[in-house]
Amino acid sequence: MTEKLWGGRFQKGTDKVVEDFHSSIRFDQRLYRQDIKGSIAHARMLGRQDIISLDDASAIVKCLEDILADIEAGIVEFDVSAEDIHMNLEKLLTERVGEVGKKLHTGRSRNDQVALDIRLYLRDEIEETSELLRDLLKTLLERAEENLETIMPGYTHLQKAQPITLAHHLMAYVQMFERDLSRLQDCARRMNLSPLGSGALAGTTFPLDREGVAEELAFDGITENSLDAVSDRDFAIEFCSSASLIMMHLSRFCEEIILWSSQEFSFIELDDAYATGSSMMPQKKNPDVAELIRGKTGRVYGSLMALLTVMKSLPLAYNKDMQEDKESLFDAIDTVKGCLTVFTPMIATMTVRKEQMKEGAKGGFTNATDVADYLVKKGLSFREAHEIVGKMVFLCLEKGLSLDELSLEDYQKCSPIFTEDIFDAIDVVRCVNDRQVPGGPAVQAVLSSIKKAQERLER
Ligand code: ARG
Repeated sequence: MTEKLWGGRFQKGTDKVVEDFHSSIRFDQRLYRQDIKGSIAHARMLGRQDIISLDDASAIVKCLEDILADIEAGIVEFDVSAEDIHMNLEKLLTERVGEVGKKLHTGRSRNDQVALDIRLYLRDEIEETSELLRDLLKTLLERAEENLETIMPGYTHLQKAQPITLAHHLMAYVQMFERDLSRLQDCARRMNLSPLGSGALAGTTFPLDREGVAEELAFDGITENSLDAVSDRDFAIEFCSSASLIMMHLSRFCEEIILWSSQEFSFIELDDAYATGSSMMPQKKNPDVAELIRGKTGRVYGSLMALLTVMKSLPLAYNKDMQEDKESLFDAIDTVKGCLTVFTPMIATMTVRKEQMKEGAKGGFTNATDVADYLVKKGLSFREAHEIVGKMVFLCLEKGLSLDELSLEDYQKCSPIFTEDIFDAIDVVRCVNDRQVPGGPAVQAVLSSIKKAQERLER
């Protein structure tokens, strides 16, 4: 029977099957850095507050620093029977420093300890994810600047609708990823309070300096209710929810990359380094990276659902169910970071086929609204104009022509209002650049939106 840190009231060892079942060291060892950081701050505070001697405190701190170095050097082996990272580290500490190590857990529980560790860990991960989003935004802005005049068809219902530019299309994603960034910052801000001092659920009788520990660990303050502090995983759920939205945006973009790189569209070509071939068909160049990101979106949604479901109906305060938070959270973090890491260079290196895009913008009567607007500007109501142009489209379909290919006589047969200038008014470039309304696709409007986004990014 292995000695348990909590073994005092037990007459018998844990069944081996149970030990493997409830041990979390396999996955929570990734919190070692945060756990040690928290323990060091706690030990120093215990010394300052005269709860343990200053000598004991510094012996503990020194030993924890050594353990950290050894873990990073890869020479520490964790022990499944010591359950989790918290008890593994405490066990190592006591083995190395002796009886003094047993004082570290004064005024602390694994319940406030794990709540602290996840917050510290997630704080760093949010910073890294945010950095990846910033890289992506930078790339999108660069590609938008290069493509301010790259005309392409805009779609609704995946049917050609009106001409836009690639810059305008890319800037739509800039808006989405900027919202994602602000959601992550928001999540980090709300989470950044120290739960240490909440104990198992009801605080502690020792005169802990909670504020001092919070300050040392760069928190903005302390949590206000000990029950809430140990049973709250809102922050993990908020992260997974933000991560789900990032993935949702990536998946929409990937879907378009997949369509655009098909022979039918041929709007873009992916760089060879971001595409793959087929083991059988020699001609193939597949957008696997984009497909994989689209597929991984499901995993992240899965993590969000798992966390929401684990937390559902749990009575206060800590329950062991909550140990199930980590694998889902870690998987969501790894997945979203992995996807962003490969998506950004894929976008940065893809070739845009400008001619092909412009050709695409011409078919499908994408300038029909502009014919109607022309009539409105000459005095018709929009509904009357809509009716006339609808009939003209029907005529074109019968003749197998586009709106620009109809003759002036054809136009005038439909309405005497048309004059020669109609042909200028429905040129796709003109159609885009007449849409100068803020938020629209005209070069100036998009340029101003790019500038604003660049300024926000630099802030
Ligand atoms: N490994 C546990 C977790 O991740 C740590 C807290 C355990 N606390 C307890 N009283 N069993 O949730």
